[in-house]
Amino acid sequence: MTKTNSMNVIITKDYDEMSLRAAQIMADAINETPNGCFGFATGSTPVGMYKALIDMHLAGKVDFSGLTTFNLDEYYPIQKDNDQSYDFFMRDNLFNHVNLDKSRMNIPNGETDDPVACCRAYEQAIEACGGIEMQLLGLGLNGHIGFNEPTAEGFSRATNLVDLTDSTIQANKRFFETEADVPKKAMTMGIKTIMHAKKVLMIVSGASKAEIVNTLINGPITPLVPASVLQLHHDVTIVLDKDAASAL
Ligand code: GLP
Repeated sequence: MTKTNSMNVIITKDYDEMSLRAAQIMADAINETPNGCFGFATGSTPVGMYKALIDMHLAGKVDFSGLTTFNLDEYYPIQKDNDQSYDFFMRDNLFNHVNLDKSRMNIPNGETDDPVACCRAYEQAIEACGGIEMQLLGLGLNGHIGFNEPTAEGFSRATNLVDLTDSTIQANKRFFETEADVPKKAMTMGIKTIMHAKKVLMIVSGASKAEIVNTLINGPITPLVPASVLQLHHDVTIVLDKDAASAL
Protein backbone atom coordinates (compact mmCIF):
# COMPACT_ATOMS: atom_id res chain seq x y z
CA MET A 1 0.00 0.00 0.00
CA THR A 2 1.40 3.40 -0.92
CA LYS A 3 0.42 6.75 0.48
CA THR A 4 -1.59 8.84 -1.95
CA ASN A 5 -0.50 12.15 -0.34
CA SER A 6 -3.72 13.62 -1.59
CA MET A 7 -5.19 14.70 1.73
CA ASN A 8 -6.62 18.13 1.35
CA VAL A 9 -6.27 19.78 4.78
CA ILE A 10 -8.25 22.99 5.35
CA ILE A 11 -7.55 24.99 8.50
CA THR A 12 -10.29 27.33 9.64
CA LYS A 13 -10.29 29.86 12.45
CA ASP A 14 -12.87 28.31 14.73
CA TYR A 15 -15.70 25.78 15.12
CA ASP A 16 -18.23 27.96 13.31
CA GLU A 17 -16.02 28.49 10.29
CA MET A 18 -15.16 24.75 10.22
CA SER A 19 -18.87 23.94 10.28
CA LEU A 20 -19.75 26.36 7.47
CA ARG A 21 -16.86 25.23 5.30
CA ALA A 22 -17.72 21.55 5.71
CA ALA A 23 -21.43 22.21 5.09
CA GLN A 24 -20.55 24.01 1.86
CA ILE A 25 -18.37 21.10 0.70
CA MET A 26 -21.15 18.62 1.39
CA ALA A 27 -23.83 20.82 -0.18
CA ASP A 28 -21.71 21.14 -3.33
CA ALA A 29 -21.36 17.35 -3.49
CA ILE A 30 -25.11 16.85 -2.97
CA ASN A 31 -25.87 19.37 -5.71
CA GLU A 32 -23.50 17.54 -8.05
CA THR A 33 -25.09 14.14 -7.30
CA PRO A 34 -28.61 14.89 -6.05
CA ASN A 35 -29.71 11.24 -6.30
CA GLY A 36 -26.60 9.80 -4.68
CA CYS A 37 -25.91 7.96 -1.44
CA PHE A 38 -24.33 10.10 1.27
CA GLY A 39 -22.78 8.95 4.52
CA PHE A 40 -23.47 10.87 7.73
CA ALA A 41 -21.86 10.87 11.16
CA THR A 42 -22.80 11.68 14.74
CA GLY A 43 -20.96 13.12 17.73
CA SER A 44 -20.76 16.69 18.94
CA THR A 45 -18.52 17.82 16.08
CA PRO A 46 -21.06 17.71 13.19
CA VAL A 47 -23.85 19.56 15.06
CA GLY A 48 -22.80 22.99 13.72
CA MET A 49 -22.33 21.65 10.22
CA TYR A 50 -25.82 20.14 10.29
CA LYS A 51 -27.26 23.50 11.44
CA ALA A 52 -25.52 25.14 8.49
CA LEU A 53 -26.93 22.52 6.10
CA ILE A 54 -30.43 23.15 7.47
CA ASP A 55 -29.97 26.90 6.88
CA MET A 56 -28.77 26.24 3.33
CA HIS A 57 -31.75 23.98 2.74
CA LEU A 58 -34.19 26.62 4.02
CA ALA A 59 -32.50 29.16 1.72
CA GLY A 60 -33.09 26.82 -1.24
CA LYS A 61 -29.40 26.10 -1.73
CA VAL A 62 -29.45 22.34 -1.15
CA ASP A 63 -32.10 19.73 -1.77
CA PHE A 64 -32.13 16.40 0.08
CA SER A 65 -35.19 14.96 -1.68
CA GLY A 66 -33.27 12.59 -3.96
CA LEU A 67 -30.71 11.34 -1.45
CA THR A 68 -30.24 7.99 0.17
CA THR A 69 -28.35 8.23 3.45
CA PHE A 70 -26.23 5.75 5.40
CA ASN A 71 -25.01 6.53 8.87
CA LEU A 72 -21.66 5.32 10.05
CA ASP A 73 -22.69 3.58 13.21
CA GLU A 74 -25.13 2.96 16.05
CA TYR A 75 -24.82 1.77 19.62
CA TYR A 76 -25.92 -1.80 20.36
CA PRO A 77 -28.29 -2.47 21.90
CA ILE A 78 -30.28 0.76 22.00
CA GLN A 79 -33.88 1.76 21.38
CA LYS A 80 -34.44 4.21 18.52
CA ASP A 81 -36.44 6.52 20.78
CA ASN A 82 -33.59 6.73 23.32
CA ASP A 83 -32.36 10.30 22.94
CA GLN A 84 -28.77 8.99 22.90
CA SER A 85 -29.35 6.69 19.93
CA TYR A 86 -27.77 7.85 16.70
CA ASP A 87 -31.14 7.32 15.05
CA PHE A 88 -32.63 9.94 17.38
CA PHE A 89 -29.60 12.21 16.93
CA MET A 90 -29.83 12.26 13.14
CA ARG A 91 -33.56 13.01 13.10
CA ASP A 92 -33.18 15.68 15.75
CA ASN A 93 -30.10 17.41 14.34
CA LEU A 94 -30.71 17.12 10.60
CA PHE A 95 -33.21 14.80 8.99
CA ASN A 96 -36.37 16.21 10.63
CA HIS A 97 -35.47 19.67 9.32
CA VAL A 98 -34.73 18.93 5.65
CA ASN A 99 -36.69 17.33 2.84
CA LEU A 100 -35.10 13.88 3.05
CA ASP A 101 -37.41 10.97 2.25
CA LYS A 102 -37.05 9.06 5.55
CA SER A 103 -37.70 5.74 3.81
CA ARG A 104 -34.24 6.22 2.30
CA MET A 105 -32.55 6.97 5.64
CA ASN A 106 -30.37 4.06 6.75
CA ILE A 107 -28.91 3.68 10.23
CA PRO A 108 -27.86 0.32 11.72
CA ASN A 109 -30.80 -0.95 13.76
CA GLY A 110 -29.89 -0.87 17.45
CA GLU A 111 -33.11 -2.77 18.25
CA THR A 112 -32.36 -5.87 16.16
CA ASP A 113 -32.14 -9.33 17.73
CA ASP A 114 -29.49 -10.34 15.21
CA PRO A 115 -26.85 -7.62 14.97
CA VAL A 116 -24.49 -9.76 12.91
CA ALA A 117 -27.09 -10.31 10.18
CA CYS A 118 -28.07 -6.65 10.44
CA CYS A 119 -24.46 -5.59 9.77
CA ARG A 120 -24.22 -7.93 6.80
CA ALA A 121 -27.46 -6.57 5.31
CA TYR A 122 -26.26 -3.00 5.91
CA GLU A 123 -23.05 -3.62 3.98
CA GLN A 124 -25.03 -5.18 1.13
CA ALA A 125 -27.38 -2.18 1.02
CA ILE A 126 -24.39 0.16 0.69
CA GLU A 127 -23.00 -1.94 -2.14
CA ALA A 128 -26.40 -2.08 -3.81
CA CYS A 129 -26.67 1.70 -3.85
CA GLY A 130 -23.53 1.86 -5.98
CA GLY A 131 -21.22 3.20 -3.30
CA ILE A 132 -21.23 6.24 -1.08
CA GLU A 133 -20.51 9.53 -2.87
CA MET A 134 -19.24 11.32 0.21
CA GLN A 135 -18.75 9.95 3.71
CA LEU A 136 -18.62 12.39 6.59
CA LEU A 137 -16.38 11.42 9.52
CA GLY A 138 -15.59 12.77 12.95
CA LEU A 139 -12.54 11.61 14.86
CA GLY A 140 -12.40 9.82 18.21
CA LEU A 141 -9.77 10.86 20.74
CA ASN A 142 -8.01 7.52 20.22
CA GLY A 143 -8.08 7.88 16.42
CA HIS A 144 -11.25 5.88 15.86
CA ILE A 145 -13.53 6.54 12.90
CA GLY A 146 -17.11 5.37 13.16
CA PHE A 147 -16.66 2.93 16.01
CA ASN A 148 -13.57 1.31 14.50
CA GLU A 149 -11.42 1.19 17.57
CA PRO A 150 -7.62 0.76 17.56
CA THR A 151 -6.80 -2.89 16.91
CA ALA A 152 -3.90 -4.98 15.74
CA GLU A 153 -6.20 -6.70 13.27
CA GLY A 154 -5.84 -4.64 10.13
CA PHE A 155 -8.17 -2.65 7.94
CA SER A 156 -10.18 -5.36 6.24
CA ARG A 157 -13.48 -5.28 8.10
CA ALA A 158 -16.81 -4.43 6.54
CA THR A 159 -19.81 -3.32 8.64
CA ASN A 160 -19.59 -5.26 11.90
CA LEU A 161 -20.47 -5.53 15.57
CA VAL A 162 -17.71 -4.21 17.83
CA ASP A 163 -16.93 -3.90 21.53
CA LEU A 164 -16.36 -0.29 22.57
CA THR A 165 -13.07 0.44 24.30
CA ASP A 166 -13.04 1.82 27.79
CA SER A 167 -11.67 5.12 26.44
CA THR A 168 -14.69 5.50 24.14
CA ILE A 169 -17.12 4.54 26.92
CA GLN A 170 -15.46 7.16 29.14
CA ALA A 171 -15.57 9.79 26.36
CA ASN A 172 -19.25 9.15 25.60
CA LYS A 173 -20.60 8.69 29.15
CA ARG A 174 -21.15 12.46 29.40
CA PHE A 175 -24.20 11.99 27.20
CA PHE A 176 -25.80 9.27 29.38
CA GLU A 177 -27.19 9.43 32.90
CA THR A 178 -24.64 6.98 34.26
CA GLU A 179 -21.65 5.14 32.85
CA ALA A 180 -23.61 1.89 33.22
CA ASP A 181 -26.15 3.22 30.70
CA VAL A 182 -23.55 3.49 27.91
CA PRO A 183 -24.00 0.49 25.57
CA LYS A 184 -20.88 -1.67 25.47
CA LYS A 185 -21.15 -2.56 21.81
CA ALA A 186 -21.86 -0.86 18.52
CA MET A 187 -22.56 -1.65 14.90
CA THR A 188 -20.23 0.27 12.64
CA MET A 189 -19.26 0.54 9.02
CA GLY A 190 -15.84 -1.07 8.83
CA ILE A 191 -12.67 0.59 7.60
CA LYS A 192 -13.14 -1.27 4.32
CA THR A 193 -16.63 0.23 3.94
CA ILE A 194 -15.35 3.73 4.68
CA MET A 195 -12.44 3.36 2.26
CA HIS A 196 -14.87 2.44 -0.53
CA ALA A 197 -16.57 5.84 -0.32
CA LYS A 198 -15.75 7.94 -3.37
CA LYS A 199 -14.97 10.99 -1.23
CA VAL A 200 -14.27 11.33 2.49
CA LEU A 201 -14.92 14.54 4.42
CA MET A 202 -13.54 14.63 7.98
CA ILE A 203 -14.17 17.42 10.48
CA VAL A 204 -12.23 17.89 13.70
CA SER A 205 -12.44 20.60 16.34
CA GLY A 206 -10.61 21.41 19.55
CA ALA A 207 -7.17 21.21 21.14
CA SER A 208 -7.85 17.82 22.74
CA LYS A 209 -7.66 16.27 19.25
CA ALA A 210 -4.57 18.18 18.03
CA GLU A 211 -2.11 15.33 18.70
CA ILE A 212 -4.26 12.62 17.13
CA VAL A 213 -4.88 14.86 14.09
CA ASN A 214 -1.13 15.21 13.60
CA THR A 215 -0.66 11.45 14.04
CA LEU A 216 -3.34 10.57 11.53
CA ILE A 217 -1.96 12.93 8.89
CA ASN A 218 1.79 12.60 9.46
CA GLY A 219 2.26 9.37 11.41
CA PRO A 220 2.63 5.80 10.20
CA ILE A 221 -0.36 4.04 8.68
CA THR A 222 -1.42 1.56 11.35
CA PRO A 223 -4.66 -0.01 12.58
CA LEU A 224 -3.60 1.16 16.04
CA VAL A 225 -4.59 4.63 14.72
CA PRO A 226 -7.60 3.65 12.59
CA ALA A 227 -7.94 7.09 10.94
CA SER A 228 -4.36 6.86 9.60
CA VAL A 229 -5.75 4.59 6.86
CA LEU A 230 -7.16 7.73 5.24
CA GLN A 231 -3.64 8.48 4.00
CA LEU A 232 -4.36 5.72 1.48
CA HIS A 233 -7.66 7.17 0.24
CA HIS A 234 -7.53 9.07 -3.03
CA ASP A 235 -9.99 11.84 -2.14
CA VAL A 236 -9.99 13.02 1.47
CA THR A 237 -10.71 16.52 2.73
CA ILE A 238 -10.05 17.27 6.40
CA VAL A 239 -11.52 20.49 7.77
CA LEU A 240 -9.93 21.53 11.06
CA ASP A 241 -10.40 24.45 13.36
CA LYS A 242 -7.26 26.27 14.51
CA ASP A 243 -7.06 24.36 17.79
CA ALA A 244 -7.34 20.93 16.17
CA ALA A 245 -4.59 21.98 13.73
CA SER A 246 -2.28 23.28 16.45
CA ALA A 247 0.10 20.27 16.50
CA LEU A 248 0.58 20.09 12.71
C1 GLP B 1 -18.24 8.71 18.58
C2 GLP B 1 -18.69 8.32 17.17
C3 GLP B 1 -17.72 8.80 16.12
C4 GLP B 1 -17.36 10.23 16.40
C5 GLP B 1 -16.60 10.31 17.69
C6 GLP B 1 -16.16 11.72 18.06
O1 GLP B 1 -17.62 7.70 19.29
N1 GLP B 1 -18.91 6.95 16.99
O2 GLP B 1 -18.29 8.63 14.84
O3 GLP B 1 -16.56 10.74 15.36
O4 GLP B 1 -17.41 9.81 18.74
O5 GLP B 1 -17.19 12.41 18.67
P1 GLP B 1 -17.18 13.94 18.99
O6 GLP B 1 -17.44 14.64 17.70
O7 GLP B 1 -18.30 14.13 19.98
O8 GLP B 1 -15.83 14.25 19.56
